[in-house]
Amino acid sequence: MDKPVDVVVMAAGKGTRMKSALPKVLHRLGGRALTAHVLDTAARVSARHVVVITGHGASEVEASLSTWTSDGACFGFQSLAVQGSAAGVQPAELAPQAAPQLQFVRQAPQLGTGHAVQQAIPVLPDDGITLVLSGDVPLTQADTLQDLLALCRGNGALTEPGLALLTLDMADPTGYGRIVRQPDGAVRSIVEHKDATDAQRQITEIYSGIMAVPTSRLRGWLARLDNDNAQGEYYLTDVVKFAVADDCPVRAHCITDAVQVAGVNSPQQLAELERAWQARIAGQMMAEGVRLADPARFDLRGHLRCGRDVEIDINCVFEGSVTLGEGVRIGANCVIANAVIADGAVIHPFTHIDGEKLGVKVGEGALIGPFARLRPGADLGAEVHIGNFVEVKNSTLAAGAKANHLAYLGDATVGERVNYGAGSITANYDGANKHRTVIEADVHVGSNCVLVAPVTLGAGGTVGGGSTITKSTPPGALSVARGKQVSIANWQRPTKNKS
Ligand code: UD1
Ligand code: MG
Repeated sequence: MDKPVDVVVMAAGKGTRMKSALPKVLHRLGGRALTAHVLDTAARVSARHVVVITGHGASEVEASLSTWTSDGACFGFQSLAVQGSAAGVQPAELAPQAAPQLQFVRQAPQLGTGHAVQQAIPVLPDDGITLVLSGDVPLTQADTLQDLLALCRGNGALTEPGLALLTLDMADPTGYGRIVRQPDGAVRSIVEHKDATDAQRQITEIYSGIMAVPTSRLRGWLARLDNDNAQGEYYLTDVVKFAVADDCPVRAHCITDAVQVAGVNSPQQLAELERAWQARIAGQMMAEGVRLADPARFDLRGHLRCGRDVEIDINCVFEGSVTLGEGVRIGANCVIANAVIADGAVIHPFTHIDGEKLGVKVGEGALIGPFARLRPGADLGAEVHIGNFVEVKNSTLAAGAKANHLAYLGDATVGERVNYGAGSITANYDGANKHRTVIEADVHVGSNCVLVAPVTLGAGGTVGGGSTITKSTPPGALSVARGKQVSIANWQRPTKNKS
């Protein structure tokens, strides 16, 4: 059986160049903390334990990451999403994984990467492989790490387990640790830029910051580290020379995709990696059949699950947990968060949907927008129509109900086929409490009505335009509550004084 993998995530550094009060590793990429992506990757290589080394902003980092799950449950909206069209596909990157055991170890003060891993080593079992990752390097792919782990394990009789380094050839390697090789090509050491000779600085193969090593060997090598170098730090990279001295194989896995080992040190780098991540997710979604009008103008900041034949126009943002059923079409410039949108529904351009913790449900074949706003607890049945400048909050609309123009429905229960006129609102808040409005099936509410809750409009009734309804109305009746129209003949308007 393969040795189990235990991951150490270095996340103690300060991140001065972010110029932010937020610890660097909590800055968001695709809507999630940088280090949450690293934990996702650890889960994808079936890590047994993950030990996160914290330092700067330790309590904030620990509090944030302790809510991590690989299935997006951290968005607080998982239950409703699961009830949605279960058959949907999601980007491979976001598929749920078995969660490793997560543990935090503090490093104070921060005396270098070797010192960081020294803090974790007491909690790592000897029978595993330690995979060292950085909390600010979010886009490493699981396949790449599997290749590195295979190199670390060796292949049984032919090659023994050893130290495996992830490396990269870089046109401008300034600042990075260089991979120094013997004339026969064998790796001899890693020399940090600041300690390197001019000749060593010509080397373009750099150490990515990621290594895999049998934990029993690492333990011994870490005990031998010193800080006798240009930066006065305990360098993790010094374990390479100990491995060589101990005749332990050192192997390098050199990749060409720089994005996979790119770290975030500045807002510019964060934005670059954000675009790289979005491009990767968009590619995975299109591979699953989702039709994006322009993959460069698509943003996912959470989890998205799509049925067959989903079409998404340009400049849409999806946040939290969103499920789109079969044949759903999303118009341009929509922002959609924490919602389940059933098969065949159409969301027209410029619609804003955010279910927050309660979620939003849009029924089959519903038409929403343009310029609609669905807020938490909006639960719309099949074929419901919500038109421009209509806001719906904490309200249930049964099948076929329509509110097509300039209206507000808050804390309302709306029956089947109700037609809710332009400019009508539920007055649901008396300044202290919220009250419900019940509109039974087949009611027709005219334009510009105020329904003062609590109030019930009986089934099949009609409310005349411009009514302020303060008392419940009987079924089937026409209810009108407004000043009676009078006309005064030959009315003379006042005239202005001439002075
Ligand atoms: C390190 C490597 C270098 C490699 C580069 C790749 C060492 C000595 N050097 O350089 O060979 O090319 O990464 O990016 O390892 N951290 C801690 N505690 C510390 C110091 C750092 O947790 O005491 C964390 C940082 O937050 C960061 C990671 O370790 O996430 C790497 O540290 P950083 O200072 O960026 O690495 P370099 O010294 O630049
Ligand atoms: Mg450093």
